[in-house]
Amino acid sequence: MKELNHIAIILDGNGRWAKKRGLPRKMGHVQGARTVEKVCRLCHKKGIKYLTIYAFSTENWKRPDDEVKAIMSLFDSYLDSCIRTSKKDNMRVRLLGDREGLEMLLPKIEKLESVSADNTGLQLQICINYGGRDEIRRAVKKLSEKVADGSLLPEEITEDMISHALDSGDIPDPDLLIRTSGEQRLSNFLLWQLAYSEFYFTSVVWPDFDEEQLDLAIDTYYHRDRRFGNVKEET
Ligand code: FPP
Repeated sequence: MKELNHIAIILDGNGRWAKKRGLPRKMGHVQGARTVEKVCRLCHKKGIKYLTIYAFSTENWKRPDDEVKAIMSLFDSYLDSCIRTSKKDNMRVRLLGDREGLEMLLPKIEKLESVSADNTGLQLQICINYGGRDEIRRAVKKLSEKVADGSLLPEEITEDMISHALDSGDIPDPDLLIRTSGEQRLSNFLLWQLAYSEFYFTSVVWPDFDEEQLDLAIDTYYHRDRRFGNVKEET
């Protein structure tokens, strides 16, 4: 049976969930945060090793001020709660994204990363102030600095080196990408890492995503034929 070690999720539809109920968008994000906690527990239970969620993109800063403030305050409370519970849950948490511009959350992010560093259960990556192109730009900058100081020759650059220079570092590439709420695009998420991932799109909005939906996505993944550019082996 093929392996499913890493699920990446573009969580989408919080705003629509709230609108449908006549609630402010903020309430959709509150419910979305609860779904993140639920899906972490489910992934742990199902033996998924890595979960990467797209929580806030480099483009999401363009949203109205009060919505951005509400989202940042949710992240802040989520970090507090994770700092308290990560040991008990044996969950390791890391941030992917540009830390410049996240100064208000950074002390808590760094604290959570350090208190959870040795946890061996679910490895959760939260993408905040994240853009796939921006991540590649920062990786190229890191490698260019080595070329400039003479410690690396341009012809020595390998795909592995580029992978390691990304925020995701040594984390394996996602096997399965899930996007909720019916949109079928990548929106600048993990552009390098998703090269050979299987994509699963569902019209269910993120706050309504549950175990049944997760099982459907996982089942679909197991029925896919992953060839990584090779041909199917004869049986
Ligand atoms: C997606 O729905 C939501 C976001 C991009 C905002 C941030 C996500 C959360 C608050 C979830 C919680 C995460 C953590 C780590 C606590 P949308 O607002 O784009 O929905 P719409 O497309 O229906 O407007």
